[in-house]
Amino acid sequence: MSNLYDVVERVAISREEIATKVAELGAKITSDYRGKELILVCVLKGAVVFFSDLLRHIDLPVTVDTFAASSYGNGSETSGEVVVEKDLSMDIRGKHVLIVEDIIDSGYTMRKTVDMFNSRNPASVKICALLDKPSRRKIDINGDYIACTVGNEFLAGYGLDYAQLYRNMPDICVLKESVYR
Ligand code: IMP
Ligand code: MG
Repeated sequence: MSNLYDVVERVAISREEIATKVAELGAKITSDYRGKELILVCVLKGAVVFFSDLLRHIDLPVTVDTFAASSYGNGSETSGEVVVEKDLSMDIRGKHVLIVEDIIDSGYTMRKTVDMFNSRNPASVKICALLDKPSRRKIDINGDYIACTVGNEFLAGYGLDYAQLYRNMPDICVLKESVYR
């Protein structure tokens, strides 16, 4: 019998730490967007777990949409080429848009997404990311709301995958070296 956590080297950010940060972000977003028409955009698939928790900490009448993009490259290095796989279904003109993303790594995905959304004349576009890896940045972009800043380590769980697996781990984890072989 194998268990989900058999692949885990160590927990990097526990479910309790995540819950505290998510509640803090939700409270901050609630006060910043009070009285504004806010569309929360869940970036598929990595942000789904974070999004569903964050959403319930935002005490405002928000609307929700989804968006998916993938960046191509070889192995773990991105080429910077970002392709939209699923566009928004809502019209964002005149609305305040908050993009909810799993992680800002090279920054290419968020740069392209923000530029594309801005071309549609919204009232504002901001980024809320669960994780930020500033040491990996290849292009100029910063998150407006960040739950945790992390180092140059590959992380999985709480929505983040490795080879499409481990999104369902409740903690954010470092995987064993043997997983990558
Ligand atoms: P970008 O390099 O900033 O464009 O990030 C692209 C995507 O790579 C992120 O949205 C994640 O889905 C994925 N990614 C980057 N770093 C990690 C990681 O440590 N674990 C899991 N996915 C990651
Ligand atoms: Mg992603």
